[in-house]
Amino acid sequence: MKILVVGGGGREHAIIKSLKKNASVETVYALPGNGGIAADAECFPVKATDIEGILRFAAEHPVDFAVVAPDDPLVLGCVNKLEAMGIPCFGPHAEAAVIEGSKVFSKQLMKKYGIPTADSETFDDAEAAVAYLKTAEYPAVIKADGLALGKGVIIAQDFAEAERAVREIMCDKVFGSSGNRILVEEFLTGPEVSVLSFTDGKTIVPMVSSMDHKRAMDGDKGLNTGGMGTVAPNPYYTDAVARECMERIFRPTVSAMNAEGRPFKGCLYFGLMLTPKGPKVIEYNCRFGDPETQVVLPLLESDLLTIMQAVHDGTLSPDMVRFKKGAACCVVLASEGYPQKYETGYPITMPALSSGEEIFVAGAKREDGVLKTSGGRVLGAVATAKTLKEAVRGAYSLAGKISFANAYMRTDIGKRALACLGED
Ligand code: AMP
Ligand code: GLY
Repeated sequence: MKILVVGGGGREHAIIKSLKKNASVETVYALPGNGGIAADAECFPVKATDIEGILRFAAEHPVDFAVVAPDDPLVLGCVNKLEAMGIPCFGPHAEAAVIEGSKVFSKQLMKKYGIPTADSETFDDAEAAVAYLKTAEYPAVIKADGLALGKGVIIAQDFAEAERAVREIMCDKVFGSSGNRILVEEFLTGPEVSVLSFTDGKTIVPMVSSMDHKRAMDGDKGLNTGGMGTVAPNPYYTDAVARECMERIFRPTVSAMNAEGRPFKGCLYFGLMLTPKGPKVIEYNCRFGDPETQVVLPLLESDLLTIMQAVHDGTLSPDMVRFKKGAACCVVLASEGYPQKYETGYPITMPALSSGEEIFVAGAKREDGVLKTSGGRVLGAVATAKTLKEAVRGAYSLAGKISFANAYMRTDIGKRALACLGED
């Protein structure tokens, strides 16, 4: 089979490596892929947001199945259009991807169908939002409605910060039209859990849970990033919590999307907070998480392509999705200065991999046969092991053998999870 994967980060590298475990996969095309992915797929310089370019590529190449991984092409209807050409896809149609594409939509969905989430108010007028924020409780959470490269959430400690955020989002349009509407949300507390799930619109099968580390610096300090590391499973997500989430959040979300005439097929990502009042939804994503995928897929025992085809065909069943017992850890190596200013173009040296080790490349290009840094998050060093403690040790040991000039990583990925297990 020839498979097209849209996207070019560490998540896509992990997806491609998993797909290739299926012997029927002869070729993977990656649009655009990256210098590291080029070792595993044929990469073509078509941006994931260039829907016309993707369609042209698909018309000119024999593609048996396509996986659209990032949020933007999903929200832009890439799957609708590829399927209209007769190419079966993994990923939601635009009508369902709106669950991530509009936070106002997803909040209204949760309110209408009684799915637990933070209380909130919606505004399409900056002055009304500012007036409301004068008497709001702090911290208050301000969210731009649309996609904002993971930067559209501001936790304001006081009115001055909140007002600044509203003016930047709604008046200065720092996130473009994504800031035409905002949500002002109640500040919740508790451990965060990411749960990725497969759903064909009828059956929903959660994958192993994970924990992201979004802040740039140790101790969860510094700016929010795309994710500096992950562990799986997330020890806060006990079997009892999992059962509660299935009953009160996962199944109700799938039913709600059907009731709205927007059946969701693909990977539905639940960003949850385990609050003192029970698990609540912080966000939905219409796709695999990055870097959650880098720890979840190495633990998948079943065949990814078979699951993805079943999701497309509407024949998904829970027994198709099995995970290994152990744990995984991903430590992201970034360019010093990320997520703000950083330099790229430095040669990367990587060791030979032992069993249980993986390197998923995110921001690198190949120049004159040399792999060089080209982005903020450069790669993820991943280890799987029987226990979380060994996985964390393994990921750091692997990360220590990778080098490029201005490499930066957090030194405490997994620390909180190990503390939860009493193993720190
Ligand atoms: P998001 O981009 O929606 O994932 O939000 C980014 C981060 O903001 C989340 O991972 C949370 O840590 C935090 N956050 C979002 N909403 C809330 C909330 N209502 N209360 C507390 N923290 C939140
Ligand atoms: N790691 C968070 C996300 O993929 O949105």
